[in-house]
Amino acid sequence: MLGEYRIEGRRAAEISASVERGVRTGDLAPGQHLPPVRELAAELGVNANTVAAAYRSLRERGVIETAGRRGSRVRERPSERTPRESIRVGVPPGATDVSSGNPDPGLLPPLREALAVAAGNASRRDMFYGGPAVGERLARTARALLDEDGVPDGPVALTSGALDAIGSVLTEHLHAGDAVAVEDPGWGSLLDLVPALGFRMVPVAVDDEGPLPQEVGRALREGARALVVTGRAQNPTGAAVTAARARKLRDVLAGNPGTLLIEDDHGHGIVEAPLHPLVGTTERWALVRSTAKAYGPDLRLAVLTGDAVTLDRVRGRQLLGPGWVSRLLQDAVLHLWETEAVDVHAVARSYGERRDALVEALEARGVRAHGRTGMNVWVPVPDETGAVARLLQSGWAVAPGARFRVASPPGVRLTVSQLTVDTVEELASAVAAALRPDDARRYD
Ligand SMILES: Cc1ncc(COP(=O)(O)O)c(C=O)c1O
Repeated sequence: MLGEYRIEGRRAAEISASVERGVRTGDLAPGQHLPPVRELAAELGVNANTVAAAYRSLRERGVIETAGRRGSRVRERPSERTPRESIRVGVPPGATDVSSGNPDPGLLPPLREALAVAAGNASRRDMFYGGPAVGERLARTARALLDEDGVPDGPVALTSGALDAIGSVLTEHLHAGDAVAVEDPGWGSLLDLVPALGFRMVPVAVDDEGPLPQEVGRALREGARALVVTGRAQNPTGAAVTAARARKLRDVLAGNPGTLLIEDDHGHGIVEAPLHPLVGTTERWALVRSTAKAYGPDLRLAVLTGDAVTLDRVRGRQLLGPGWVSRLLQDAVLHLWETEAVDVHAVARSYGERRDALVEALEARGVRAHGRTGMNVWVPVPDETGAVARLLQSGWAVAPGARFRVASPPGVRLTVSQLTVDTVEELASAVAAALRPDDARRYD
C-alpha cells in the first residue's frame, strides 16, 4: 500500500512525525492510502489507540484526511484551504449563502475617507524602519476603549487579526504537545490553528452563557495549559459570557493561576451585550479585539493587550517577522474610531433583529436554535450531512457544523448577514422541513 515507505515509531508523536516526513519527502504521495489503524499497530507492535492518536493529530493538522470506509489518505497539497475550511458546500447559482460568517457589507463603514486621511497623514507619519510599532494616539484610544469595558491594565500591541495574535500568544508560552482548552463548538480557524501549531486540543462545552465552568475545571485538571474563550458573539453559537458565568469561571481560573488565558473579543463594535472580562485572574493573559467584524475583515488589524511578559514576547517575536502593522492601516482605524464611523447600537440592533426573528421563527416550527449575540445562529440537528444536503436542495447553503466541532453533537450554522426579516421566515421553514426528511420529500 505504501510502496517502499515504512512508517516508524513507538509513540503517537513519533508515528505522526514519520508520516509527515514521508509526505514532506514525497515518498507518501497525495491521495495515497495509509494502512488501517489495527494493521499498522500490529506491524509496529503498539496499541491501536497509539496509532489512532497519531492519525487523529495528522488529520487535525490537515496532513491526512478520512476517505470514508477506505480509511485515511494523504491530503492533496498545496491547499488553499485549512482542513476545516474545506468542509464546505459549493453554493449553486440561485442558492442563498448563509454559510460564510462574513459581516453584512451594508453595516460596514465606508473606508474611502479613512484611507484618504491615512494617506494624507503620510508626510507627518513615521514611514521608515525603526519607528514605533504602535502609534501613540492609537494606543491611547485603544486603551481607553479597553478601560471602558473593565479590561485590566496592560500594554497595547497590534497584530494582523485575531488569529495572528492568538497564535503568537500560544507559541510564546507553550511547547509542542501541550494541551489547549477550546470551546466546542468553537471558531473553526482556531480549531485548525491549535493542532497546526503542534498543540493538543481539549474541548470544553459551551451553552448560551459561555464555557461551562465544570468543563473548564475538567480541562485544566486534564492538563490544559491554556484556555481560549470568546467573550461575546461566540462563533458559531452566539453565546455571550454573562456576569454570573464570568464569576464562576473566574473562580475556576483563580484556582489555576498558571493557566494562560486568552480572551477573544471579536464582538467589540457589533455587540451591545457588556463584556465581562475573565482576564486578569491568571498570571499570564491576553485579550484580543479584531476589527474584522465591525470594520471589515480586510483591515487585518487587531488590538492585543495582556500581561507585560506576554506582550513583550509577542512584540519581540513580531520584530523578527512582519515588524509592525502598517501605520497606514493604523491611521485608518484610528480615524474610524475617532469619527465613530460605526454606530454600535444600530449594528447590534440590525443583527439582533434578524437573529431573534430567525430563532423565533425556528422555535415556532418546533426547532430549537441558539443565537444570543453576533451574526450567527446555531441549530443542533440529528443528521448534519442530511440537513446540509436537503437545505441545499431547497436553495440554502448553510455551514456544516463539522467545521466548528471537536466532540460536540452535530449542528448547522446560519449567518444572518445576508438575510432580511422577511427571508428569515423562508429559511426557518426550509430548516424545519430539512429536519423532517419525510415531509421534505412531499411535493403536494
Ligand atoms: C471567534 C472569532 N474571533 C475572531 C475572528 C476574526 O479573526 P481575524 O481577526 O483573524 O480575521 C473571527 C472571524 O470569523 C471569529 O469568528
